[in-house]
Amino acid sequence: MKTLFLSTLALCCFLSGVAQLKTGDITIIPEPLLLNPMPGSFVVNQETTIQFSGKGGETTAAFLNDYLQRNYNFKLPVSPATKGTPKSLPVIKIVEAPTGKKEGYILEVNTGRVYMQGDAPGLFYGLQTLLQLFPVNKHFKAATDSVTQKPFNGSLHLPGVKIQDYPRFAYRGMMLDVSRHFFPPAAIRQFIDMMALYKFNRFHWHLTDDQGWRIEIKKYPRLQEIASTRKETIVGHHRRSNTYDGKPYGGYYTQEEVRDIVKYAADRNITIIPEIEMPGHSQAVLAAYPSFGNTKGPYEVRTTWGISKDVLNPVNDSVFVFLQDVLTEVIDLFPSKYIHIGGDECLKDRWKESAEVQRMIRRLGLKDEHDLQSYFIQRMEKFVNSKGRSIIGWDEILEGGLAPKATVMSWRGEEGGIAAAKQKHDVIMTPNTYLYFDYTQGQPATEPLNAAAYLPLQTVYNYEPLPRSLTPAEQRYIKGVQGNIWTEFIPDQPMLDYMLWPRALALSEIAWAQPSKKNYDRFLQKLPLELARMDYTGVNFRIPEPAGLESKVVTSTTATVTLKPPVKGSMIYYTIDGSQPGVRSAPYTRAFTIHVPENGTATVNCIVVLPNGRISPMYSATYVHKPFLPAIATKQGNKGIRFSLVKTPPSSARQLTETGDSTGLLPAIDIRPLPVKEFGVTFTGLLKVPADDLYELHLNSDDGAIFYIDDQVVVDNDGQHDLQDRSGFIPLRKGLHRIKVQYFNTGSGAWLDAGIYRNREKLNPADVLYTGQ
Ligand code: ACM
Repeated sequence: MKTLFLSTLALCCFLSGVAQLKTGDITIIPEPLLLNPMPGSFVVNQETTIQFSGKGGETTAAFLNDYLQRNYNFKLPVSPATKGTPKSLPVIKIVEAPTGKKEGYILEVNTGRVYMQGDAPGLFYGLQTLLQLFPVNKHFKAATDSVTQKPFNGSLHLPGVKIQDYPRFAYRGMMLDVSRHFFPPAAIRQFIDMMALYKFNRFHWHLTDDQGWRIEIKKYPRLQEIASTRKETIVGHHRRSNTYDGKPYGGYYTQEEVRDIVKYAADRNITIIPEIEMPGHSQAVLAAYPSFGNTKGPYEVRTTWGISKDVLNPVNDSVFVFLQDVLTEVIDLFPSKYIHIGGDECLKDRWKESAEVQRMIRRLGLKDEHDLQSYFIQRMEKFVNSKGRSIIGWDEILEGGLAPKATVMSWRGEEGGIAAAKQKHDVIMTPNTYLYFDYTQGQPATEPLNAAAYLPLQTVYNYEPLPRSLTPAEQRYIKGVQGNIWTEFIPDQPMLDYMLWPRALALSEIAWAQPSKKNYDRFLQKLPLELARMDYTGVNFRIPEPAGLESKVVTSTTATVTLKPPVKGSMIYYTIDGSQPGVRSAPYTRAFTIHVPENGTATVNCIVVLPNGRISPMYSATYVHKPFLPAIATKQGNKGIRFSLVKTPPSSARQLTETGDSTGLLPAIDIRPLPVKEFGVTFTGLLKVPADDLYELHLNSDDGAIFYIDDQVVVDNDGQHDLQDRSGFIPLRKGLHRIKVQYFNTGSGAWLDAGIYRNREKLNPADVLYTGQ
């Protein structure tokens, strides 16, 4: 009888056309350690049962049923797997038993059964992998539709596979700032759900900042009444705008809501690490309790972005009493071993101006304000340790000396993490050079308002958290990685989804997969299916550029364009005459050729349209049929770029000469260090080109700017104008080339972003800019 049943199942599989899959056909994100496709497939239908052992097995079974209920509108019978139970088929067996690796699991799918084994977290991750084996098709519905759906009564085929898996890093985190914008509990739950799908296990909740305090503290009601609400909010980018919306903005989580969310996360194997900022980023606290500041105020909850000079006053003992009271309530709410005490970007102006702070520095025998900040953090660390917990702080807590047991979050690049590991302190790597998901994913012209630095998917994917400059023993202090989402320019859930995905998928592979298992091309092959799944569940991810849409140098007058839709089931529409494509433009169905004139360029513009109708911004590729510019024979000189500044701006950038009122050297083409608002500046130096290739230069500027290579104008963005982005392409031979950028600004809102890109990767100024001799 059993044999008959088995062979009937096998026959079903055969007839339904499910063949044995090859490695590569089964796509799981993050990539598992070992994945071997097996013959056959397992059919989930109303006959299937779930058997479990252990509490972890029972919970996992319940999660599986929740998933089936939400997406297919049916549930499977669940029972404990007792010794005497006859082997009935088909069965999904979920067994809580260690695999020898923490958070590890094994998963086997074959014609007769699904078998999953692991510790409780491992089973949870095994389930996330299993869910990615479910087909993404018309049956897979958004949760919101399920109420009106009839129960699904077909069969779901899961491909045969053997998987053995465990994570690379114990700490796999994501941080969300809820101060700049408030995300209600439902949005936090969705964020946690998404984290869980991709095996993240730490949610760093940035609860307080200058622009709003977001957690109920019973002992200090003015935090709720005053600090949680700002009277209005800046519109646009704070470095360019003087406009405010005139609307009060606020919100906070009650302690009851916090408790619910902490439990919700814990059920999904996610520990929440709360962050209470100190001694900087505290203007909202001062609005509620002005006596905690260094001046008489008045203070208000900050209405613009950027950092406040108004910080907590370390001379006032009530400040420490306040923070201890706050942390007492916080520690009571969050079982996390780690409590994040901020510590970043504490501007020292007020401490420098204050006679009593200066007296305190002398009295304590400290060297300066950095030492004082270190004193502040160490005092708070003692308190947190006395409650049996440990502190994490941003990498500024290294300045003036690390608190003895502190864990450091390296955000200003990797240097803080490297320094802390060398001092034998635990480190979480969260460098803004790779993992700041508030930075833009594409070119300024087509991306929403953002924090302005550039961080495309590929750059994120290629991040390696263990710095080569550390010894293997030092590398062991790097406990994991985290992506950060600051929300100045992220007002709501759709924009949050947009900035997170698919970059957070890339991060999931950094955090979970072994380095030998990481491969960007394979990751790109896996994305279309996973993004289609996200699309069905209503996640507003950024639609990636189609694979194959790449600017390049061509050597003949025709070029073949081969594209691949970035989301399964999506359509590409394109134009080749420079116009904006729409859904009535040519649909991409097969490779096509374009004409690229001798000494000229041709451009393909396209949009991607998802199955649900959502349309991407326009993406482009430029084909350049021009000779490579040869490198010049010269000495590279030192790192950096020279500038020449004129204090009275001309009326166009091209009027600037290289002799100014003052000159100097900067590490990058950057106007922020310049001391004036209205001015003209010329940057000159050498560009060290890493390889023969096509380079894309961008000028995003207010007002005008011009970019030259070897005295040729490559980007002309001159004239008086608001923020405007222009780009140009140039084929360059490896070696040194002369580089020049002219820029001027009149009025307010000075802005210059001069970027040099190769294959959508931005070149790091520290690697490519030299002074020459
Ligand atoms: C930070 O980005 N200020 C930690």
